[in-house]
Amino acid sequence: MDRPDGYGAVSRALHWIMAVILAWQFTSAAVRQLLPDTPVEDFFWFPHTSLGLLLFVLVLARGAWALANARRRPRTGLAARMGHVVLYLLMIAIPTLGLLRAYGRGRGYSPFGIEIFSRRDQEIESLVELANDWHGLLGWTLIGLVAGHVLMAFLHRKPDGSPVLTYMTKGK
Ligand code: HEM
Ligand code: HEM
Repeated sequence: MDRPDGYGAVSRALHWIMAVILAWQFTSAAVRQLLPDTPVEDFFWFPHTSLGLLLFVLVLARGAWALANARRRPRTGLAARMGHVVLYLLMIAIPTLGLLRAYGRGRGYSPFGIEIFSRRDQEIESLVELANDWHGLLGWTLIGLVAGHVLMAFLHRKPDGSPVLTYMTKGK
């Protein structure tokens, strides 16, 4: 469980595991833009859609854990709280759009070899277009906000004067 003087082991594990997987997602997206049709792209891109589903499942568990711990967590200002809510909304919206695209394409979707959507004959163009318009855009927005979030983690101070970073590293 979390405590007002630091996040507990579950919150910290979810935070850092997701940060590492998100770093992979952004690397894969950047490599896809910068080094298309290269072995580097193949290497980073091939798990993108599977890891996206994993992140989707993890963010739901993390959100539920955050709500269960809401009263025990370190106190944050309103701006920081709103910032965290926006990060959650993006962490939910981005993979949701990815999944809608995978469904709309109708080519089947089997992350980690588990069939989630089977093949269909027809594409649902509206779903694919919606995702094409927003998935990447929101993805790049998220990385921009994460950069601000990391900066704030070093700048914001705890009541004892140390950076709030230690709430999420050492924990309680
Ligand atoms: C939190 C999870 C995810 C993040 C952060 C993420 C991020 C991104 C980003 C930044 C791009 C680059 C778009 C561009 O070319 O500018 C992208 C592309 C793509 N993603 Fe994801 N993604 C996630 C989950 C998923 C999931 C779950 C799927 C499918 C099931 C998926 C499928 C795709 C596809 C097919 C593209 C290339 C086509 C496009 O540009 O829309 N992604 N993703
Ligand atoms: C090097 C990278 C990162 C650092 C140093 C960092 C640091 C921190 C710190 C210190 C806190 C606690 C803030 C407080 O309670 O005052 C926190 C919370 C949080 N961080 Fe990060 N973070 C990083 C990456 C990320 C990423 C990639 C995301 C996801 C987009 C993220 C999302 C969140 C969220 C939503 C919270 C609120 C607590 C929770 O529900 O997990 N962080 N982060």
